[in-house]
Amino acid sequence: MTSQPNALEIEDLVMHFGPVRAVDGVSLTIAAGRVTALVGESGSGKSTVGRCVVRLVEPTAGVVRIAGTDVTHLSRRQLRPHRDAVSIVFQDPAASLDPRMLVGEIVAEPLRLAGRRVPRREREARVAPQLERVGLRAEVARRYPHELSGGQRQRVSIARALVSEPMLLIADEPTSALDVSVQASVLNLLADLQRDIGFACLFITHDLSAVEYLADDIAVMYLGQLVEKGSRERIFARPAHPYTQALLAAAPVADPVRQRQRQPVLLGDDLPSALDPPSGCRFRTRCPLAFDRCATEVPRQVPIGDGMAACHLVQPDGTGPDVRTADPSEVLS
Ligand SMILES: Nc1ncnc2c1ncn2[C@@H]1O[C@H](COP(=O)(O)OP(=O)(O)OP(=O)(O)O)[C@@H](O)[C@H]1O
Ligand code: SF4
Ligand SMILES: [Mg+2]
Repeated sequence: MTSQPNALEIEDLVMHFGPVRAVDGVSLTIAAGRVTALVGESGSGKSTVGRCVVRLVEPTAGVVRIAGTDVTHLSRRQLRPHRDAVSIVFQDPAASLDPRMLVGEIVAEPLRLAGRRVPRREREARVAPQLERVGLRAEVARRYPHELSGGQRQRVSIARALVSEPMLLIADEPTSALDVSVQASVLNLLADLQRDIGFACLFITHDLSAVEYLADDIAVMYLGQLVEKGSRERIFARPAHPYTQALLAAAPVADPVRQRQRQPVLLGDDLPSALDPPSGCRFRTRCPLAFDRCATEVPRQVPIGDGMAACHLVQPDGTGPDVRTADPSEVLS
């Protein structure tokens, strides 16, 4: 039996925009049919990773493999046969849908881009079930995007992204521009489609409750680098990196009793500039546990199961201090 290739393999990805080190050595693998959430503060480089994968920007260095094929150095033309393997859904459907095109044309567009000319009848035949799959009526094909609500427009984006049956979907904050009242239904739709169709997904988000609901694995990004990777269960139960611990502590908890008992860890200042990241551990300027070595030595990635955490205080068994409970003055004594 031949096993399926990984949907996505990223090795040492670097994306510098001139002096801006947006992505600085990211490695990540997503197996077929799995969902990895990419989380981290605004400006940490999450969207840039997604944009490199779909080649909206040309990476400075590193390797991107989609469905087993190294697409890093393929020309636009060579890329065509591989285009079908990956799609992207953006945050703002109003900005990502061409206002002059009918919904039916928008949904069918990836078929044309993949180099196939699709006759009108066949196009309509492919678009109707695609719209129904995302909870829209087939008549919507004859409407323009501005005639639809935000939630409906994002359903159109999802239909377009899935029309070519991709092995991998990049979903870049797909609900955060939507009205709060429709966010859950679009998220539910994405989860249902993922379970039914089984595509792999890089799910970029700020929303940790969505992560809990949708993701198999979590990758935590800080200032252009991954600081922790692991299964959703492990990261929620035993986050190893101080930054992951702080992120989880900052997220609201559904249970009001637990919410009141928590001691939130304040991350304090804003993310440092990607123009001039701190030496050693990039998190050290905000880490409550930082000590002298953190300024001089880049922490190595300590393996934890299939994942890792990059912090000097994480032990080979994946344990270490927890900023949510530790007294910083005692950590190193
Ligand atoms: N085209 C560009 N030119 C210059 N700098 C850029 C460009 N795109 C992104 N950046 C910078 O790269 C860094 C990472 O940006 P990116 O949009 O990837 O972050 P993000 O994690 O997706 O943030 P958010 O959560 O706000 O979407 C930021 O400092 C940003 O200003
Ligand atoms: S290496 Fe040092 S600064 Fe970085 S997260 Fe660990 S303790 Fe904090
Ligand atoms: Mg982004």
